[in-house]
Amino acid sequence: MTTPTRTAPLAIDGGPPIRQSVWPTYDNGDAYVFEEDIAAVVDVLQSRRYFRYDTRRHEDTETGALEAALCTHFGSAHALACASGTTALALGLLALDLPPGSEVACPAFTFAATPSAIMLAGHRPVLVECDDNLHLDVADLRRRMAGGARAIVVVHMRGFASDMPAICAVAEEFGVPIVEDAVPALGVRLHGRPLGTWGRFGAFSTQSDKALNTGEGGFLVTDDTEAYARTLVYCGAYESRMARHFVDPPSLDDLALPLFSWRMDEIRAALARTQLGRLPDRLAAHRHNYERVAAALKDRDDIVVRQPVAPGAYLGEALLLRLPDAPVSTVSWFARALRAEGICVRALGDPDDVNVRAFWNWRFLFPDAAEARAAYPVTAAFVDSTVDIPLSANLTDADCDQLVEALCKVADALPGRRR
Ligand SMILES: Cc1ncc(COP(=O)(O)O)c(C=O)c1O
Repeated sequence: MTTPTRTAPLAIDGGPPIRQSVWPTYDNGDAYVFEEDIAAVVDVLQSRRYFRYDTRRHEDTETGALEAALCTHFGSAHALACASGTTALALGLLALDLPPGSEVACPAFTFAATPSAIMLAGHRPVLVECDDNLHLDVADLRRRMAGGARAIVVVHMRGFASDMPAICAVAEEFGVPIVEDAVPALGVRLHGRPLGTWGRFGAFSTQSDKALNTGEGGFLVTDDTEAYARTLVYCGAYESRMARHFVDPPSLDDLALPLFSWRMDEIRAALARTQLGRLPDRLAAHRHNYERVAAALKDRDDIVVRQPVAPGAYLGEALLLRLPDAPVSTVSWFARALRAEGICVRALGDPDDVNVRAFWNWRFLFPDAAEARAAYPVTAAFVDSTVDIPLSANLTDADCDQLVEALCKVADALPGRRR
């Protein structure tokens, strides 16, 4: 590892930045793309068959083959490829057949798409507090469930598993289903079981920032055959196309449900399928990078690395660090100073960098941010003290070491800069 340049002036003060080149992120063109992905897409383009439901047999379509591969990967009975993670979540929620306007619990620390999907399915999100590691607080979940929520959306936020055994026990106690928002956690296991297979439905995204990257896209997995049939109709398997997904189709009037046309196309499915074959390599790269950085920071008590609910129960594509007891102004300065050093990082609660992962910014739910923060003070405080750094699968050891060097350089300067 490079020797930290602790005495050099910070880049934010005009010193030389630790890193000159751009930190790799999906939105500046970083992608885990190989020749075989390009070839798979070109094949589909040349076939002129872009729509999934055509005259071919279901298993001969790219989308059908992707769904079969996903069933094998997850050990699930059914999979459905669709337009996005948000629509995958909404499809699962719609297929639960809850009374319209039901309350659905979800963690206060999540991406705005989670409560949005609950609303898209016609329900009302009820937020639940998160703990110092930004995991769903199971005791608070039990308290809020007593208010009458009819389902739980669990989120494995930034790739970290939620405590599924404890959450499943609460769901069972209240007799409600779980939908897993496993969008950021494709390939992660908890106690040996894949995330996304603990609840009635597991929803995933294949948007560019995820472990499978098709630009946009998503899918769900489930073992519930009747509910799966409903998701197919909602998704747009009209005029008996739903039956193609089964050897022995359940009876369902496919015009009794609305049709939202949230299907995946053949081009994306081909891309997802080739990438699925390389998923283990990609996960290993994330794990390697994450462990290298986390190990280098483990003895610092001024930057606390987010802890998983069980050893290894995380993806490793996002490094969340907490600055204990630091006010949000200090945490925001820390992120700014790191950006000046060439690292892509955001302070989750920075008032000058409105982040959709900070619940008080969701004006579609909370017209008054201060009131929202007061309603969930624990999560607000932990979100305020946390910074979020994307860790690409393409990072080299040298990149990881530069990150550590920059973090240590800025953290060493913190005592004099606290505001
Ligand atoms: C936790 C979570 N849920 C849902 C989504 C939405 O996924 P998509 O953009 O594919 O709709 C995201 C997107 O990043 C997410 O992080």
